[in-house]
Amino acid sequence: MKRPCINIAQTARHLAGLVLLACPCIAPTTYAADVFKGKDTYQTYCEVCHGSNGQGSIPGTPNFTRGQGLLQPDLALYNRIESGKNAMPAFQGVLDTDEILDVITYLRTFF
Ligand code: HEC
Repeated sequence: MKRPCINIAQTARHLAGLVLLACPCIAPTTYAADVFKGKDTYQTYCEVCHGSNGQGSIPGTPNFTRGQGLLQPDLALYNRIESGKNAMPAFQGVLDTDEILDVITYLRTFF
């Protein structure tokens, strides 16, 4: 007997392949941190205390080049920058989500 022209299983596989290929186009865009914007934000808001080299310019600041204060997950750093710590001011309402994510990426370049 001659095989049918349309093989259902094969067609289904092809359709599934098409859906997979199309996925990147229909998936929501994710935000990729921009280290250059992070540097701008750092120079505007952080450098006065943390120094242009990340080693700290006032007493009590961590030395980022030694990883001080940076050995924690991004989410913890994010919360820290938003809420502040002792002499470190809170940046909630000053920096938006993207600016904080960018500045975290920049902080990590010191270590
Ligand atoms: C007024 C000075 C000042 C400014 C401005 C400042 N910081 Fe800080 N920051 C500090 C001090 C002081 C500490 C140490 C706090 C402590 O551990 O008591 C600190 C600590 C930190 C830490 C370590 C937190 C931890 O969990 O130990 C990070 C990360 C940090 N600052 C990031 C930033 C970023 C990013 C900015 C700019 C958006 C910024 N800081 C602006 C003074 C400042």
